[in-house]
Amino acid sequence: MTDLISTHTHGALGIIRMTRGPVNALGHALRVAISQAHRTFESDPAIAAIVLTGQGRFFSAGADITEFDSGRRAPFLTDLIAQLEASTKPVIALVNGIAYGGGFELALGCHGLAALSDAKVAFPEITLGNIPGAGGTQKLPRLIGGPAALDIILSGKPISAKRAHDLGIVQSIDGTEAEALTRIEADLADGPPVRLPRDLTVEGSPEELAEVAAPYLRRARGAPAPAKAVEGVQMAYDTPLDAGLAWERETFTALNTSPEAKALRHVFFAEREARKIEDVPPQTPKRALASAGVIGAGTMGAGIAKCLADAGLSVTVIEQEQDRLDQGLARIRAIYDEAQSKGRLSKADAEARLARISGSTSMDALCEADIVVEAVFEAMDIKRSVFAALDKICKPGAILATNTSTLDVNEIAAATSRPEDVIGLHFFSPAHIMKLLEVVRADKTAPDVIATAMALGPRLGKVPVLVGVCDGFAGNRMFINFNREAQILIEEGALPWQIDAVLSDWGLAMGPLAVMDLAGLDVGYRIRQARGPQSPYPFTTADRLAEAGHLGQKTGRGWYLYPDGARRGQPDPEVETLIKAVSQEKGITRREISDEEILHRCLWQLVNTGYQIIEEGIAQRPSDLDVIFVNGYGFPKTRGGPMFFAEQAGLARVAADVRRFHAEIGAHWTPSALLLEQAETADA
Ligand code: NAI
Repeated sequence: MTDLISTHTHGALGIIRMTRGPVNALGHALRVAISQAHRTFESDPAIAAIVLTGQGRFFSAGADITEFDSGRRAPFLTDLIAQLEASTKPVIALVNGIAYGGGFELALGCHGLAALSDAKVAFPEITLGNIPGAGGTQKLPRLIGGPAALDIILSGKPISAKRAHDLGIVQSIDGTEAEALTRIEADLADGPPVRLPRDLTVEGSPEELAEVAAPYLRRARGAPAPAKAVEGVQMAYDTPLDAGLAWERETFTALNTSPEAKALRHVFFAEREARKIEDVPPQTPKRALASAGVIGAGTMGAGIAKCLADAGLSVTVIEQEQDRLDQGLARIRAIYDEAQSKGRLSKADAEARLARISGSTSMDALCEADIVVEAVFEAMDIKRSVFAALDKICKPGAILATNTSTLDVNEIAAATSRPEDVIGLHFFSPAHIMKLLEVVRADKTAPDVIATAMALGPRLGKVPVLVGVCDGFAGNRMFINFNREAQILIEEGALPWQIDAVLSDWGLAMGPLAVMDLAGLDVGYRIRQARGPQSPYPFTTADRLAEAGHLGQKTGRGWYLYPDGARRGQPDPEVETLIKAVSQEKGITRREISDEEILHRCLWQLVNTGYQIIEEGIAQRPSDLDVIFVNGYGFPKTRGGPMFFAEQAGLARVAADVRRFHAEIGAHWTPSALLLEQAETADA
């Protein structure tokens, strides 16, 4: 017995149980322990067959990802699997809970595959920029056919025990381990299992893969792993297993060091790291959240109410007037209807969740709520009066959250007698879809309120990131500077379509000008008018377009032309004329601007602002800002986020560019002291 595995016998069965917490990641020590235990049982004459299982929620979550970057040592997982396949006694995988990636491949290396009803199998490698590397691409097609196997590999999504049984991945499903062991004993009495995937062949021809592959390859936008997965499954049809395995191993190793895989691993770890808060340790007690209030059932409030109800909380939605409340509740129902029509939710589930949501025109209905999320109009006086009222109505210990995107959470908190209970929960639009949740810590927010809000994030299906109070918090403050740089580039000589093409080729879902057209040029215009000329670089062309009523897609023209309701814009010669006139008015001699300059000026604005934000203590670490951009702003995960991209490019080089832009372009390029410091240490 070690802390990695435990072994015992059950009649003539030798049981190896993986017990390496928390997820049975198949690191080197665990591989060695399983190998030794297998050998011991194999040479024990009292043992007829060996059962490999896990404990709790995990059979095994797969490879130990930390080994990808720190180096891997023999015996590799492939060696261990080969040992089990060559076993003189049958080995049966009894999959309890999760068997992902290498964990699933370990099970596919066994002579029989039994499951408990909570079992789930998956190949999530594709989500980390890779393909299964220990036999998955060659053995799963042999077991269940090419198309079904390819779909599992390309989707990266888990398959339930029942579906795995229907597909022929697992041979039996039992409710408990005891029942499963009894069944395995009985099955063995009828003869040993003869179903090693390595001994099977794939029926059909590789042409049948095209239909499954097409949509995934389209979405991959040239990322290498999905195409390699298809190639691997194609090989399974006509290549001897060992040649296929050798190809898979080589491909896996090569993909592992691809920039995409590194970036995806970075995001994977960054999302976990973001949950750690320096002065709020994990053992900080959390407040129980069973009931919630949402004030304001507009665009954001409706989506927030859905998230809370989906997470199992009972939700009371507040609007001041009955007709607004009715509209709000209808908006929530429409979101559920859409989820149903897209097949994301069954009718019964949608109804059960909707039943948790009620409405009221009186805030008194929130007297028992454990948490209230305010999503009323973005005006300080309205927010303060709402919070003053909540202070009187809510029970002691209730968390009072605001979804403000621009207002000072300290000022909102000061409208109450309990600022320690006040926090920002900044959802992104559409709130029921976007994964990012900025948790905004105000000066007096209590640690247990922060801990509770951070734990609420994943319950709502969100990725929470802690930020502090400043104009725009972390995400919007960085993003506005990115957009401003695009505007400056336009005045200096670039055209909107050039900027959008550079940034979408780099990987953004849409370029910044196309995004403005989608959101409506009136939105930013109104904000800029309300704020007055704060920036030395006003959005002059954007303002002129808005004033002319060219608001973007909804009016058929903005930065682009959208003839006949087209969703993709065409370059507009009149916009080009307007841009040139604005440059002339400002005395700017337009020049040719390279794609590289466009890319770096837009991205380094994000990076320089990001380091300033960290310097000021508004965000904890650069990787948190990457989490914000990939989950809230459509940044490609395969680039790892702006801060990671800058680190890969070399911070010394980024700092040198920023210094040069500062000298040549203007004060808004003042280098962050932290960036300069990091650049020096990175250089050393
Ligand atoms: P909205 O105008 O769609 O909805 C606001 C709702 O609040 C309306 O239904 C209104 O009737 C209601 N309301 C106003 N005063 C109220 C009061 N005293 N009591 C009860 N209900 C009241 O606005 P939206 O877009 O949903 O924004 C709400 C908040 O979310 C704002 O603070 C905004 O800055 C923030 N936000 C908005 C985002 C967006 O993209 N729309 C993104 C992130 C945050």
